[in-house]
Amino acid sequence: MFRLKSGLALPLSALCLASTNAAAQDQITTPPAATAHPSLWPAAHWPWRSDPAMEARIRSLLASMSIEEKVGQILQADIASVTPQDVRRYHLGSVLNGGNAGPGGDDYAPPAQWLKLADTFYDASMDTSAGGHAIPVMWGTDAVHGHSNIIGATLFPHNSALGAAHDPALIRRIAAATAIEVRATGIDWTFAPTITVPQDTRWGRAFEGYSSDPALVASYAGPFIEGLQGKPNSGPILAGPHVIATAKHFLADGGTAQGRDQGDAQISEEKLRDIHGTPYVAAINAGVLSIMASFSSWNGEKMTGNHGMLTDVLKQRMGFGGLVVSDWNAHGQVAGCSNASCPRAITAGIDMLMAPDSWKALYTSLNAQARDGTLPMARLDEAVASVLRVKMRAGLFEAGRPSSRPYAGRFDLLGASDHRAIAREAVRKSLVLLKNAGNILPLAPGSRILVAGDGADDVARQSGGWTLSWQGTGLSPAMFPGATTLWQGLRQAAADAGGQATFSPDGRFTGPRPDAAIVVFGEAPYAEFQGDISTLRLKPDQRTPLETMRRLKAQGIPVIAVMLTGRPLWTNPELNTADAFVVAWLPGSEGGGVADMLLRPAQGPARNFIGRLPFAWPATARPDGPLLFPLGYGLTGKEPGSLKKLSEEAGVAEDTASADIYLNKGIAGPGWSLEMRESAGSTRITTVPAVSAGGRVTVAATDHIVQEGARRFTITGQGAASVAITSQAAADLSRQTNGEMLLVATVRVDQAPAMPVRIAMGSVASMAYVDAGKLEGMPIGQWRRIGVPLKCFRAGGADLAKVNMPFALETSGPASLSLAEVKLGMEADTILACAKD
Ligand code: BGC
Ligand code: BGC
Repeated sequence: MFRLKSGLALPLSALCLASTNAAAQDQITTPPAATAHPSLWPAAHWPWRSDPAMEARIRSLLASMSIEEKVGQILQADIASVTPQDVRRYHLGSVLNGGNAGPGGDDYAPPAQWLKLADTFYDASMDTSAGGHAIPVMWGTDAVHGHSNIIGATLFPHNSALGAAHDPALIRRIAAATAIEVRATGIDWTFAPTITVPQDTRWGRAFEGYSSDPALVASYAGPFIEGLQGKPNSGPILAGPHVIATAKHFLADGGTAQGRDQGDAQISEEKLRDIHGTPYVAAINAGVLSIMASFSSWNGEKMTGNHGMLTDVLKQRMGFGGLVVSDWNAHGQVAGCSNASCPRAITAGIDMLMAPDSWKALYTSLNAQARDGTLPMARLDEAVASVLRVKMRAGLFEAGRPSSRPYAGRFDLLGASDHRAIAREAVRKSLVLLKNAGNILPLAPGSRILVAGDGADDVARQSGGWTLSWQGTGLSPAMFPGATTLWQGLRQAAADAGGQATFSPDGRFTGPRPDAAIVVFGEAPYAEFQGDISTLRLKPDQRTPLETMRRLKAQGIPVIAVMLTGRPLWTNPELNTADAFVVAWLPGSEGGGVADMLLRPAQGPARNFIGRLPFAWPATARPDGPLLFPLGYGLTGKEPGSLKKLSEEAGVAEDTASADIYLNKGIAGPGWSLEMRESAGSTRITTVPAVSAGGRVTVAATDHIVQEGARRFTITGQGAASVAITSQAAADLSRQTNGEMLLVATVRVDQAPAMPVRIAMGSVASMAYVDAGKLEGMPIGQWRRIGVPLKCFRAGGADLAKVNMPFALETSGPASLSLAEVKLGMEADTILACAKD
């Protein structure tokens, strides 16, 4: 595509029509790499029959809808940034709850509140008192491993685990159970399944993919979609136990260079089609009613603005007849666009813009663009028709209020025992046995078992990201009623088999010597780019259970290592140390499934392990290094399971750059420096105590968690003075800003500031400030995490794509403040409000 100044795209051929010279011919035969050739793509079979009555109804609606109503229909707002009154007034077509949104601002609101809010939005959409048509609003949610935003819902294993099961029929049952739980809360649409085909597991979303093998992913796409939606043409979706499905993210979200989230897939069109496109054929054949465009790019061009891919390939060649929804403000990343304006996404083929907090600005810009022709009316009509068609196929117009629909309010279905049984079966089938020396597994009935490891008794840890909160962080055990941790499952199973289990996180024990120890270790929850890594290795603090394993082995106790992880990682030291090694992936709420496989029941035969690797397992921590176990590998437990000693050379330097941590234990992170600034100049802090250039700021070590884990700053005199974190190289914080992350500073007020304090972020060219007053809310002498939404700095004019001062704390009078940590995160004790504009 050639990009014109306006940001609109024209096919290259249109510009070359008049040229006949050889150079121009050449250009035609070697088009830019992000140009799609529809004829290279397979045609899929869109199964929904066209319904003349429905088409007539759509035409008649379109004929009488105002431009405003049409524009409203193609916008989707986040419930944290929209009210029912807005839905009525702007005729919004859809709402969603993002990973951190919930009714009344409470992400953890009880199910009844979700249903009530669904009714309120529905009523608003059907209220024509302000004019317009009654068009029911559609609510989308990320029910990606069960209805995973809702307290008490069944949490199925994440997709990488399900890939290990190689069981499409199980996938259908999981989807069907999930659909029913979603319906209990009155929601009609889920952003699942993710049918990505991750090629580089450094990608933080690799766990959302079933496998690196396109054929395996394709074999799951159809059953999952039918489990959610039912069979196409079998009556309105919402009349049965079903919801609208979404295949995501189109295309090559899992094919980006270095596995970078929202990155660029630098691959040929053949690879794009054969690796990443394959599951979409199956999804379209199953009648998936929506497809989400990927945040990522293909050869430098954002998918969200790629007409060739969204329209020529997906809709025309492959015959997809549902609606294409964009991702969370992804339109703002398209060349020539901003969050507030992006006609190009619609002209490229997006039918609905996921515009969490940007919907109002888009409403204004799209109305103007539809009027001046920048957005052709025919295209707007087509987008609206796609939205209406999905609503009609779902039966939304006839379904009535959400609370009146089948399954609504049946909160007993959330975490219902038959759903939990399916999840537990999925856990059993997804465990992959990589080592079983001396056939130690399954453990004999009556064994005395020691359970250890930091992951053994933690539902949040075993559930990963997209669990109650976006990143799956900040959760407490009480938020998982009905769930079973691995330890709880093992305790029960040991007792049932006539043995006993004890739990000791660090593996130290007093009583009699255990017959075997089960040590649970692995990754901690993350989602999206927060999970991106540069080497295939656990973080240093996640490797401490290895010491526990070594100590137990030294005492002559057989060790079974159980790894919680979203993806394969280099674990040779653990594989060497343990007698048996089981990959449990992210199993979710039914930890009992792990015990089912590790312990032989008192009666009946032991179960065979059937899980096989859905991604190859690395022999080093190098992303492009040799493999230890190929795709499809897994022991059953019956064959000899010993493993020769493996090299413990990681093959790559320790990854010290922990992104997004600027100050840790009072010390600047790698690449950053901590400075004191005042009119006399700035002073970089290397050792403490130290004094600033003009003597107004002094710094000394103080304690936070550990001895000298923080720095105490004392400011005297008048005039601007600050403590700042800086670097030469600029960091790009656009994704973090779009993800609504916070700048979080762990601060202690030792002496209240005499003058107001401001927190700043930006670069020399563009700094933005947020007022923190005189830190009035902060109790003297106590540590508190102060959070500032990154959005505030963007709104204040800072260019967050180029940040070389991620933090400054500024005041102009005396104060004494201590600082322990500065990072980006999701949790804080106090969140500052953006400056009013
Ligand atoms: C993710 C999508 C998700 C959406 C809504 C985006 O950031 O990429 O997978 O469906 O947010 O939460
Ligand atoms: C996620 C949303 C989440 C949001 C705010 C996005 O990138 O996809 O689901 O709620 O960030 O944290």
